[in-house]
Amino acid sequence: MPVATDLVVFAVFFVLALSVVLKVDGASYRERPKSADVLKGDTVTLHCAIDGLPPSEMVQWYGPPDMRHISSGNVIAKRFKGRYRILGDTTRGEHNLQILRAANSDEGDYRCSTLSLDETAEATLAVVDPPTVTVTPKSSRVMEGESLNVTCHVDSNPPADVDWRKVGHALPFRVDNRGQVLHLDRVSSSDAGIYQCIAENGIPPVGYGTFTLEVLFTPRIRQTFDTKVSVLYGQDGFSLECVAEGNPRPQVRWRRQNTELYMGNPLVLSPVNYDVEGKYACVASSPGFASVDKETFIDVVGRPEVRDSSLSTLTIVEGGDATLICEVASDPVPDGITWFWRDSNGKETIYTAGITEHVAVREERTSKGVKSLLTVSTAALDQAGNYMCRASNMFGSDQKDFRLEVQDSHLTLIIVIAVTTVVSLLAVIVGVCIVKKKGWISDDRDSETSSVSVSRPVPPVPGPDMVDREERDGKPEGLYEYDVNNGTLKPRPPPRLDKDPYSIGLSYPRLVNVLPSYATVERDQPKSPDPDLQPRPSGDGECAPTITELPPRHSGLFECKAADNPSQRPPGYNEIHAF
Ligand SMILES: *[C@@H]1O[C@H](CO)[C@@H](O)[C@H](O)[C@H]1NC(C)=O
Repeated sequence: MPVATDLVVFAVFFVLALSVVLKVDGASYRERPKSADVLKGDTVTLHCAIDGLPPSEMVQWYGPPDMRHISSGNVIAKRFKGRYRILGDTTRGEHNLQILRAANSDEGDYRCSTLSLDETAEATLAVVDPPTVTVTPKSSRVMEGESLNVTCHVDSNPPADVDWRKVGHALPFRVDNRGQVLHLDRVSSSDAGIYQCIAENGIPPVGYGTFTLEVLFTPRIRQTFDTKVSVLYGQDGFSLECVAEGNPRPQVRWRRQNTELYMGNPLVLSPVNYDVEGKYACVASSPGFASVDKETFIDVVGRPEVRDSSLSTLTIVEGGDATLICEVASDPVPDGITWFWRDSNGKETIYTAGITEHVAVREERTSKGVKSLLTVSTAALDQAGNYMCRASNMFGSDQKDFRLEVQDSHLTLIIVIAVTTVVSLLAVIVGVCIVKKKGWISDDRDSETSSVSVSRPVPPVPGPDMVDREERDGKPEGLYEYDVNNGTLKPRPPPRLDKDPYSIGLSYPRLVNVLPSYATVERDQPKSPDPDLQPRPSGDGECAPTITELPPRHSGLFECKAADNPSQRPPGYNEIHAF
């Protein structure tokens, strides 16, 4: 067995010797690739260096997906050309893989190996990406009560944690991170605002996206006033503000009950008296919604106010009745209305509700207070004097004065007759004046159709002279018609006054200047033309006179004679000459 033993010893030794030789001469990794993160778009280098590489051997790189062959030695596979390259001193076994502009597809496991190495060196490359956030929709306008979903789209590597917040508010909802969807169920006006989606994956910066929610809602009037508001009478201005919310922002106005009259907001009542007491409604309206209102009763309280507190004078005839009325608005109602009478001797009498010999006082409730009526029946002369009513309550008092005059019944009759006579006389005088004035205006229209001009001459005084001139001018219609029956001047209907105030102003002053001559005896009793002088239709055998000249007084002889030149005139033509 010594031979066998020797063989075994030799074999062991050989193996050991071989292993020593291999260790000295075989390839080995000097630097192995290490796992790394690269920001998307950046450049990354995976290092690999092998010692003792036989000259005939190449270093191989494999990578994603599924360990595809990237390179052999310095040669890059066709499909990886462009962004991939091998760097380093290949004579020293350096084969570093550099990737430019890292993309998501570059992420995965890489291997650096060679044929003479049994073991392989692998590393993982992660292409990381900070979150990029897109929110859809960016904004929304919804009606109150509606629901909506808002999605936060996040592009990131590794996946990000997504959170929703409301700017300036506590979160009114639960957030579903996985779906990155914000569920807004039956929104209310308080949900309106800006929402922020926040995405974080550890790669800075943090991603943000925003969503703006607008909620449309019907106007709402805030409880800033009660259903009844008490205001002190005489207060120096009172205002009541109405606050309403809504989207769109409502228009806020005030309306008094049973009226369509709107007042602004705040409601201002000045002066504060019993007339402003009543129901008012604040009305808030915005487009797209029905108007909303809220009522309040403005209750005026304070001292009594006597209506129409100025002095009233009553005059009655002896034996008649007189009722003095004192109407009082007051809240609370007056403690009572007292009447005072001071007669002509200065003696004062007080009356309260009730009946005495000649004076009855009664009170009536009204919607705003009390009415007190003092009646003096079958008044005697000595019941004249100053009466006064006074109403008072805890806030103060108000009063009204009356003067009662009682006239002697005989004296009254005389006065009535005198007054009637004077009035009648005046009426007659005025009537006459008006008639004459109207005659002048009539002149203006007839003699000129266009508006009166500045250069227009003063209209002539009407009268017989006038009639004559008008006829000569070829206007046979006289300006005035003479009423033969009573001899008065009867004017034509008054002309319509020119609308131009200037021309009116021109006409009247002249009328005034001219008028005095009008008042002469002649004018008052215009001469009625002698019926015999009226032109008549000419006919055979008759003398039909034409008045060519008429002196102021057309008394005298009139001659009827045949024309000098019959050929120029129709047969039987005659002239009348006045002289
Ligand atoms: C929101 O999304 C939920 C499911 O995620 C769906 O049931 C609901 O109808 C969506 N609401 C709206 C308003 O789209």
